[in-house]
Amino acid sequence: MKALILSGGKGTRLRPLTYSGAKQLVPVANRPILFYCIDNIVRAGITDIGIIISPETGQEIREAVGNGKQWKAKVTYILQDEPAGLAHAVKVAKGFLKNNPFVMYLGDNLIGTDIKKFVKEFIKKKSDALILLKEVVNPKQFGVAEVSRNGSIIRLIEKPERPPSDLALVGVYMFSPQIHKAISRIKPSQRGELEITDAIQEMILMGRKVKSFVLETWWLDTGKKDDLLVANAIVLDEWGMIKIKGTVDKSSKIIGRVTLDENSVIQASTIRGPVVIGKNTVIENSVIGPHTSIGDDVRIMNSSVDHSVIMNGSEVIDVERLEESLIGRRVRIFKNSRHKTLRLMLGDDSVMEV
Ligand code: DAU
Repeated sequence: MKALILSGGKGTRLRPLTYSGAKQLVPVANRPILFYCIDNIVRAGITDIGIIISPETGQEIREAVGNGKQWKAKVTYILQDEPAGLAHAVKVAKGFLKNNPFVMYLGDNLIGTDIKKFVKEFIKKKSDALILLKEVVNPKQFGVAEVSRNGSIIRLIEKPERPPSDLALVGVYMFSPQIHKAISRIKPSQRGELEITDAIQEMILMGRKVKSFVLETWWLDTGKKDDLLVANAIVLDEWGMIKIKGTVDKSSKIIGRVTLDENSVIQASTIRGPVVIGKNTVIENSVIGPHTSIGDDVRIMNSSVDHSVIMNGSEVIDVERLEESLIGRRVRIFKNSRHKTLRLMLGDDSVMEV
């Protein structure tokens, strides 16, 4: 069994952050989302992994993941010239996939469970496709399944105007080589993409064995700011731990699960976990957390920050309260008048004076 991770695309929904970076590398609890996908695949015993990359952000992905050695996996990069759809990506990867069954994993999806049990079930039942579904409040934004009373799938539709159910397709799929035949039979959708949803629908029409499971744990498509902050909070809640490598002075308080990486300094501050703080970061006279991830080389002074993600190299100075904010790299926020609360989404290299 192989795995194919889709890490190309445009990432328009996380702009401006994704003007200068791949959305799959946006950090959740200080680790790129993509790393959690690789972890899950490797935990399922799959180590032959292809990663779809785009010409714009491919280099950045290669640098972050490397050859897969840190996961004891073998990573092959596959360039997709344009984001022509998820099924198009499978087509482009045919040389890598050959006639192997594979897991397809969208590089911006995070799920709260191991895929191992689904992989086992897929192999045991000799299915042609296994899909995961999850109830959502906004089904129009996803692929949606119409399911009969006994749980079998009647129909799958991509981003329907009138959704037949609230069951969205999660971005983790398992396929037999039959998927290639199905893809060769479909046409681009209205949005001009070769949709994997249409290919699976085609498999159903071809009489192939398509199994589905409804996910019982959380699932997040991290394509938007609020989803990303929710993902950050959930991951910190589930996997946050106490690990202090940096320095905490006597007048500071560390409460709950806080991770503080090497060379970081906490002075006269309160850190309320779950919180992760990267390397070479200084926090002075501030209150941080809960549910906050702070990257490397960050400086926070005389401020309060909660439910936020602050990426590498940014500064927050004299800001009374910053909450539910997603701050890119090398952003500077400082205060020169009195305001109460801030809610922000700022891209890399921004400077904001409030
Ligand atoms: O997240 C689940 C949803 O993902 C499903 O419910 C939908 O059925 C499925 O079509 C997909 O919808 P999105 O519109 O959210 O897909 P998006 O364009 O965000 O792409 C998902 C990932 O695949 C993302 O990491 C970028 C990558 N990608 C996307 C395209 C269109 C590629 O690598 N190549 C592509 O051509």
